[in-house]
Amino acid sequence: MTEKFMSIEGVTRRFPAAGSATTVFEDLWLSMRRGEFVCIIGHSGCGKTTVLNILAGLDRPSAGAVIVDGQAIEGPSIDRAVIFQSHALLPWRSVMGNVAYAVASRWHRPRREIVAQAQKFIDLVGLTGAEAKRPAELSGGMKQRVGIARALSIEPKIMLMDEPFSALDALTRGTLQDEVRRICLTTGQTVFMITHDVDEAIYLADRIVLMTNGPSAVFAEIVDNPLPKDRQRADFHRHPLYYATRNHIIDFLIARSRSFAAEIADTGFDRRHVPVVRPLAEPAPTPAAPVSTSQLRLLNRERTGS
Ligand SMILES: Nc1ncnc2c1ncn2[C@@H]1O[C@H](COP(=O)(O)OP(=O)(O)OP(=O)(O)O)[C@@H](O)[C@H]1O
Ligand SMILES: [Mg+2]
Repeated sequence: MTEKFMSIEGVTRRFPAAGSATTVFEDLWLSMRRGEFVCIIGHSGCGKTTVLNILAGLDRPSAGAVIVDGQAIEGPSIDRAVIFQSHALLPWRSVMGNVAYAVASRWHRPRREIVAQAQKFIDLVGLTGAEAKRPAELSGGMKQRVGIARALSIEPKIMLMDEPFSALDALTRGTLQDEVRRICLTTGQTVFMITHDVDEAIYLADRIVLMTNGPSAVFAEIVDNPLPKDRQRADFHRHPLYYATRNHIIDFLIARSRSFAAEIADTGFDRRHVPVVRPLAEPAPTPAAPVSTSQLRLLNRERTGS
């Protein structure tokens, strides 16, 4: 897993504004390996969705390029599936219709095979029984699940996900995070995912890209997730490096994302080689005061209920 599979090379995006142009972000560089799971975190409006749209080929950079497998991308491709922040379902098609439409554009197969593939992913996202419903009849979370089913069902090489789990209740979110993680690990898909949820990023990502506030946002740091690849939902937060990682990201969001330009002034910050950070364990807390015999007795009594 060492070769460069997808790379953002000097990408800038400007939008026309009254009298001039707004530079949303400038000279972004990032390389991803095949099979890697990358999350990007940054404040609202910094340009995350715009980056994802450029990776999807739905928007074009004002400067720079995105290279996938040695080729500059020119437009959308069936190899890159997108889960949109805004669902983007076909309103006149049912749940089955939306997912089957994507499957049929990926493979020319008999209708029953297409329906079977679509059904597999509708079941997986917990929408069994809602196949005939149209998007207008679905809740926000259900629409989001259709978007996830549609993206997974075409088994793309690259998954581009824009806050895919944000509208879901905690239980469904956890189940779908586990499923997406399992599918990506077993299929070797390369994933670029936007999230505002720090724990979600630490659970899912191999690397977490920290993006500064706009305008002229930059990729400030890449956090190399120190947690083991086979981490489990039930106890990843107990890993000795979990809090150091979480605190580093939260510190960035609270303070450094705003003041980053001042932080790097005169440091020769190289946007082409964004610093990689691997959080280390924080110093062990000072040992607790010894517990007295009477306190121990009290504890034991509470435990045994005596
Ligand atoms: N088509 C457009 N024309 C003009 N400005 C745009 C356009 N699309 C996005 N922008 C601006 O670019 C900036 C980045 O928008 P983007 O949607 O990428 O942010 P984001 O990081 O995804 O935010 P959020 O976390 O709220 O989804 C915003 O200031 C937005 O107003
Ligand atoms: Mg967005």
